[in-house]
Amino acid sequence: MSVSDETALEMYRATFDGEPGYLDWAGFGPVSPAVRSELHADAELLGSGRLSGMSLVDERAGAARELLGELLGARTDEVSLQPSTTHGLQQAVYGLSGGVMVGRREFAALTVTVTRAAESLGRVQPQWLEPADGFITPDAVREALTEDTRALVVSLVDFRTGYRVDLPALRDVLGEDRLLIVDAVQAFGVVDVDYGAADVVCGHGYKWLRSGRGTGFAWFGPRAQERIAPVLSGLTGMDVEGLPDTVERPAATGRAFTVSLPDTLAAARLATGLREVRDAGPAAIEAEIAARTADVMFFADRYEIEVVTPREPERRAGIVALRPRPRDVAPLAASLANHGLTVTARGDLIRVSAHVGTDADTLRLFGDALAGFAYARVE
Ligand SMILES: Cc1ncc(COP(=O)(O)O)c(C=O)c1O
Repeated sequence: MSVSDETALEMYRATFDGEPGYLDWAGFGPVSPAVRSELHADAELLGSGRLSGMSLVDERAGAARELLGELLGARTDEVSLQPSTTHGLQQAVYGLSGGVMVGRREFAALTVTVTRAAESLGRVQPQWLEPADGFITPDAVREALTEDTRALVVSLVDFRTGYRVDLPALRDVLGEDRLLIVDAVQAFGVVDVDYGAADVVCGHGYKWLRSGRGTGFAWFGPRAQERIAPVLSGLTGMDVEGLPDTVERPAATGRAFTVSLPDTLAAARLATGLREVRDAGPAAIEAEIAARTADVMFFADRYEIEVVTPREPERRAGIVALRPRPRDVAPLAASLANHGLTVTARGDLIRVSAHVGTDADTLRLFGDALAGFAYARVE
């Protein structure tokens, strides 16, 4: 890493100003100081009643789309802002026909969207993937493929286990005729991924990008634009500047997959969060997060708590899922809470998610919490 890259990463690290103990970046990312001040400044501009000020805020949407294009390696006109990831996934899935593969244990944004699209339009047939470990591997997809399969909808990083899929390998299995629709929520901007293997990428800015809610986005690549019908296209989905007087065909660009004008304050927050990760560099952020997740795994191993997340850095991102013995889940969750740590405890898993700003104090607290739990554990 060059000196200037290192400085950029250190500057990024210095923007994490929350209290020690936060290990739930996969749930919600405490909003960054730059995003907070951008929001205040733009809110003032919107209250000014001056056209110049209000127009300036309108421009944030374009800035956010440009930055998204840069991080995705895509053209700006293929990128749209969405109220949420789920809205973006709906735009993609409702426009499909044929078999749509999706993991049964995927986040509800995927499973509910595929199910509702099938129920309402009747053109989509869900094809459920049910690998025992929940990992959507190339083999799991290959075994389940049928002649009718038209698309795979998959999380880049599984919200539950932290497993990161291999996009190029999934593309190989799917071939060129099927679409690869990716929910990138749990990795976008903080993992250096080549999105070229995907056809659609949806995500949001309220976790790892630290931009707050309302910051969804979607990218529809050329193949997706060709093959996905923009059935949910709204008044902003046409190639018309300003208010449309007539109903035209949907645009041949990403805007076809939009409904109405974006929330410009949300766009301003997203643009700021994106700029921060772009400046620090996703590759440098990824390396840092990989080191923090390795620290979390180190403590789990030391206190003999099963780690569900793959060990290989390229098969994970910022999530480490721990599976204590069933009778240990509640005591472990209690020990973490008592040490002032915020994690997600759901079912039989405890999800720990660290970011670049996860400091030595937080890791020390984590080690202490596990030690306290292990000391009291009934063998
Ligand atoms: C993998 C994944 N997809 C989608 C979502 C929800 O995204 P949104 O609230 O932007 O619809 C989450 C939220 O936790 C998630 O983890």
